[in-house]
Amino acid sequence: MIIRKSFLTLLLLFFCTAGIATLSQAQVKPESLSLIPQPVKLTTQKGGFLVQPSTKVYVDPKNEDLLRVGEFLAQHIEAAIGHKPEVIQKKPKKKETNLIHLTLKTENDTLGAEGYTLNVAQGRITLAAKEAHGAFLGMQTVRQLLPAQKTSESALIPALQIVDKPRYTWRGMHLDVTRHFFPVEFVKQYIDYLAMHKLNSFHWHLTDDQGWRIEIKKHPKLTEVGAWRDSTLIGHYWDLPQTYRKRRHGGYYTQEQIKEVVKYAQDRFINVVPEIEMPGHALAALAAYPELSCTGGPHKVESKWGIFPDIFCAGNEQTFAFLEDVLTEVMELFPSKVIHVGGDEAPKTRWKVCPKCQKRIKDEGLKDEHELQSYFVQRMEKFANKNGRTIIGWDEILEGGLAPNAYVMSWRGTKGGIAAAKEKHYVVMSPGTPLYFDYYQGERDLEPTTIHGYNPLSKVYAYDPTPSELSAEEKKYILGAQANMWTEYVSTEEHLEYMVFPRIAALSEVLWTPAKLKDWKSFQNRMTQQYKRYDALGVNYARSAFNVNQHLQVDSTSNRATVTFDTDAADVTIHYTLDGSEPNTRSQVYKGPFSLNRTSTIKAGSFVNGKLVGKVSTRTFEAHKGFNKNITLTTPAHQNFAKKAKLVDGLKGSTDQYDGHWIGFLDTDVEAIIDLGKEQPIKRISTNFMQNIGYRIFLPVQVEYALSVDGIRYVTVDTIDDPNPLGAEGITTHEVAATLPLTRARFVKVKVRSVGVSPDKYPSAGQKTWLMLDEIVVE
Ligand code: ACM
Ligand code: ZN
Repeated sequence: MIIRKSFLTLLLLFFCTAGIATLSQAQVKPESLSLIPQPVKLTTQKGGFLVQPSTKVYVDPKNEDLLRVGEFLAQHIEAAIGHKPEVIQKKPKKKETNLIHLTLKTENDTLGAEGYTLNVAQGRITLAAKEAHGAFLGMQTVRQLLPAQKTSESALIPALQIVDKPRYTWRGMHLDVTRHFFPVEFVKQYIDYLAMHKLNSFHWHLTDDQGWRIEIKKHPKLTEVGAWRDSTLIGHYWDLPQTYRKRRHGGYYTQEQIKEVVKYAQDRFINVVPEIEMPGHALAALAAYPELSCTGGPHKVESKWGIFPDIFCAGNEQTFAFLEDVLTEVMELFPSKVIHVGGDEAPKTRWKVCPKCQKRIKDEGLKDEHELQSYFVQRMEKFANKNGRTIIGWDEILEGGLAPNAYVMSWRGTKGGIAAAKEKHYVVMSPGTPLYFDYYQGERDLEPTTIHGYNPLSKVYAYDPTPSELSAEEKKYILGAQANMWTEYVSTEEHLEYMVFPRIAALSEVLWTPAKLKDWKSFQNRMTQQYKRYDALGVNYARSAFNVNQHLQVDSTSNRATVTFDTDAADVTIHYTLDGSEPNTRSQVYKGPFSLNRTSTIKAGSFVNGKLVGKVSTRTFEAHKGFNKNITLTTPAHQNFAKKAKLVDGLKGSTDQYDGHWIGFLDTDVEAIIDLGKEQPIKRISTNFMQNIGYRIFLPVQVEYALSVDGIRYVTVDTIDDPNPLGAEGITTHEVAATLPLTRARFVKVKVRSVGVSPDKYPSAGQKTWLMLDEIVVE
């Protein structure tokens, strides 16, 4: 046995050496290494370094952090070739070969604490950095140069040189463990995911209305009571009536577990930023200690999502004493210089009528409740500063005046971040679009339910955290960015991975790579290998980037639609059908734009190695009688929405009102007239509407169709009252149709009556509502 095994090893070495010989003649193209994020400088040479069972890892002595990096590297090498190299804590001899040397540079360098250089040559690999942190990030690069999966007992790394450092100092991901709780083991895995993408900040959203997740010794009810809710909303918030899973949900991290996670992150050079929400999103705390609210309660840990009026009372001294106790324990657990104090979405409803809050406003000479919030945050800031910490808050902390030293996390777009930078406050950008990873990443109808939005991979990739409206001086205040992972609609680890991957790869490059080196095409190509890395790790990444985006451009002169396909993934073959059947490998291959002049249901999918990857996308082009005809709107459409021509462009919208098909009308009835150009038989007319009550988009209460031969005298042919007889309450599209006895006409008039203001039974009662129209189909 032993003899056979060593013979095999010999044989293998022979082949691998032969491999080097072949490789030394060819120089690998930098892009084919598929490094993500793209390094600042990368050059390749002929030849390479063979990682083999006898390869050793040397780390400079007297630095335990660097030793740890060496150990990590050894583990990754083991995963790649099945042998864990010996890690030796000393400098190798000059002539020694077959080694990887991790070294700390003592000479002046300009790469900073997170920069590194990597030199791969035939005899050795040298990874050099100013600090162990840089070596750790460089080690993540080496990891990508190794095979994603073990296929052999050795691996060739092409000869190359890399000089690298990050664009931003704050490279973050957030995780909401309140809406759904995730156990310590998964949190650690999440931290590993951040590390492999060269991120360095983990924002841990620990408290909210739906749960308090951190043990506070001085106030034990926070977790005894506040960590548990009796039920959880099922489905989308706007699927009315709301229904609940009547099962206790919750959990919390003990202080020991928190220390374990913080240490785990520190070992991977990741800073953990804890978030304790105040003054809003506090119901879990108030359920435990109702005396801290304006009303005194009782309160319960929330079962549904949203913004709630009961928040910490700003007039009550006890509130501040309590929060100082909490922050004291938090600061003992988290070494982070920056502590997140929330500050978002705090309705002032209770404060406006609370005698204690009103007294505070008077005593402190404050103008209003916004200044009271500012007072609140500033008081907490003073406490944090006294303890050597800095606070960061969501951009609402700008309202009523920013606390003097606070950092701002800009989530409601980038305006807050821009304003803060202009006021010389440090900023972390995390705008909902495109950095909320709880938003859709693909066509809505093909994705699991999310809150809303559309942040596909390409949109995340295109983001630049530094706003161009800032001066060079102000730009220095943009520390970086982070993506936020809220979990209202995400209750399992698999689903969470689905939302995070692969968008985290795009985020990684946004935050690391110099803007001028970013290149979407190159990124798409490099992602092909990145998906293999995810496969090897067993990550449940979304395949949404493989879904085919269908672009149909209607040409008004030729009466044809030009169909173009693309995907966010590279290296796919698109097969499609035009008859509504499911595409397979025998279906037509997409080679470039094509045109249609007949009603067609287009189905397209991406295939890799003969297998469908992602989902089949479907679009219907309807070359109906009204298609591309002249349409007049007697009611102007709202400026935020598409042009009227979209009503007769042969294409219907999805359940996303911003998909470019819908035309919105605010607070008005609607009338539209289509001129078919000549008199002709008509047997059916239909109009598509949308309902999304959360956005105050309601189906109409009446649709009337009228026809005319001369455009002057109209005859009403059908009036449909209550077009939503089933009372569907969810997010939906709905066709309202009239089927006619055979009639001839040239002009078609559609009159639509709006519901008016939002009905009493909804939270938006009394507010203006939207009518959303899409295609008017004349047959
Ligand atoms: C937030 O999304 N409310 C910060
Ligand atoms: Zn109060």
